[in-house]
Amino acid sequence: MTSLPNDGGDVFEALATVAELGEGTVLARVKSTGEAICLIRHRGEVSAVSGICTHEHFSMAQSDLLPDGTLQCAWHGARFDRRTGEVKQVPAAAPLPIYQVRIVGDRIMVGARCPRTGARYEASTAKIEETA
Ligand code: FES
Repeated sequence: MTSLPNDGGDVFEALATVAELGEGTVLARVKSTGEAICLIRHRGEVSAVSGICTHEHFSMAQSDLLPDGTLQCAWHGARFDRRTGEVKQVPAAAPLPIYQVRIVGDRIMVGARCPRTGARYEASTAKIEETA
């Protein structure tokens, strides 16, 4: 596993390649810290959210990615904003934690959990550069 320090001293680690995360899909990964992560690719933008639903701990990697990019838990249907983790539909009450994400070359790098501000987390996304 590849790790890179970021500007704040936190560590980003490669959890997947861009090719492994197809457009409109979600992918389960685990950080070296043991935190479950769900990577999401929607319209060329990558997000990294907690892999565990805040409602009853179901795997977010089994979620449905709706056409507008909202993530819907497969168990009870809670919906979350994939960029901020904000709850868009009950039964979840707490936002889904968001992780810092970067793309370095063909690798998707995930860093620390973003700070929470009220009902959401600080947004973090990375844009995939299209190659001709
Ligand atoms: S476990 Fe996700 S909505 Fe219940």
